[in-house]
Amino acid sequence: MTTTIGIDKMSFYTPNTYLDLANLAERDGTLLSKYHQGIGQERFSVPSHDEDIVTMAANAAATILTEADIATIDTILLATETGIDQSKAAAIYIHELLKLRPNCRAVELKQACYSATAALQLAAGYIARKPNTKVLLIASDISRYDLNTPAEATQGAAAVAMLISANPRLAILNEPSGIYTADVMDFWRPNHRNTPLVDGKLSTQIYLKASEAAYLDYLHQDGIPFAQLSQYCYHLPFSKMGQKAHERLCRLTHTEYNPETIQAGMIYNRQIGNSYTASLYLSLCSALDNRDDLADKHIGMMSYGSGCVAEYFSMTITTNYRDYRQQAQHKALLANRTALSLADYLHYWHRAEYILNEQLILPIENNGRYRLAAIKNYERRYEICNP
Ligand code: HMG
Repeated sequence: MTTTIGIDKMSFYTPNTYLDLANLAERDGTLLSKYHQGIGQERFSVPSHDEDIVTMAANAAATILTEADIATIDTILLATETGIDQSKAAAIYIHELLKLRPNCRAVELKQACYSATAALQLAAGYIARKPNTKVLLIASDISRYDLNTPAEATQGAAAVAMLISANPRLAILNEPSGIYTADVMDFWRPNHRNTPLVDGKLSTQIYLKASEAAYLDYLHQDGIPFAQLSQYCYHLPFSKMGQKAHERLCRLTHTEYNPETIQAGMIYNRQIGNSYTASLYLSLCSALDNRDDLADKHIGMMSYGSGCVAEYFSMTITTNYRDYRQQAQHKALLANRTALSLADYLHYWHRAEYILNEQLILPIENNGRYRLAAIKNYERRYEICNP
């Protein structure tokens, strides 16, 4: 039997508070249709002060891991661009919170929104060499832009945890991958800044150009033809961006544009906002949870990270994926969130300043299992709330 490699289990976590974009529309005198139709977003998740990429990542992973999984995980890869330290990998804190084995390597990867895909490819190569092990891959990010800018409406936060293994029960990673890398300044965050610098219009043009170039490289290597893919998932800084890229690839490949092949992959992202590295994999969760007809079907995956790197690849969904998806838990997580007022959103937005403090005690605000409890002498102290 040929050994397949891919996603054995996956789950996402998002903060339990959100801002409805109606608040920004009212504040700015903008028509709500600009958000709902123009960029295709309805809400974005807002992390509380005691949440960060570590707590979100641990909360996402805790729901899928069993003792048996932990016994076989010998690598944890964390993809993020919301780093909490210039040197130490945030994966080490997560390793501790999840009580992973001491003989498990932990590392953090960075390339804007793209690095989770790099981590997936690295994990797959590693599993091919050591098929009896598993890799825990987590993409975790907080998208945060300056207030009163066009990008403010495209904030968000989420983590997606994936267990990468041989003979996976959810989705098989296929060869080939089409890749495109180019040095562009569309979005970046210099070390001294808490929010990125972004040329919004340029970034949307580069995203489209990079999607096309990565897809053509994929096609050149005899990837599954575009029209034979049953669902298309995109990196979604806002859902309209994925729609535009899809329309462009349909034109390029003379494929009839069918909105039903992208919409299921956008349902969660429209409610959560941009989650950078997690966004494409959140879209995959959304597609798996919201379509019941994907057994043995191929999905197109378009990964993009500003700067920029893009990768086009496909995954084949397993026959029994519906038995292993975390549909009920994901839907409950979204249904149980609380809407914030504009004032509360601003209170949480000003999280950057507190992080600069040497000493800090944080009250319990989020309702996840893991939280950031304090910063003492610049050291982060995490806490398990409901052990
Ligand atoms: P903006 O200037 O507020 O928006 O910024 P706009 O005026 O261009 O309007 C957006 C769309 O809404 C337009 O449609 C309008 O026509 C439409 P389009 O021309 O694009 O088809 N519109 C309306 N539609 C219906 N009813 C109305 C209405 N009014 C207007 N009443 C921008 C938009 C995306 C530039 C801004 O949000 C931004 O800067 N966002 C951040 C950057 C970004 O997300 N870029 C995406 C590509 S880069 C990427 O994906 C990487 C990233 O995730 C980071 C990483 O890799 O790490 C960002």
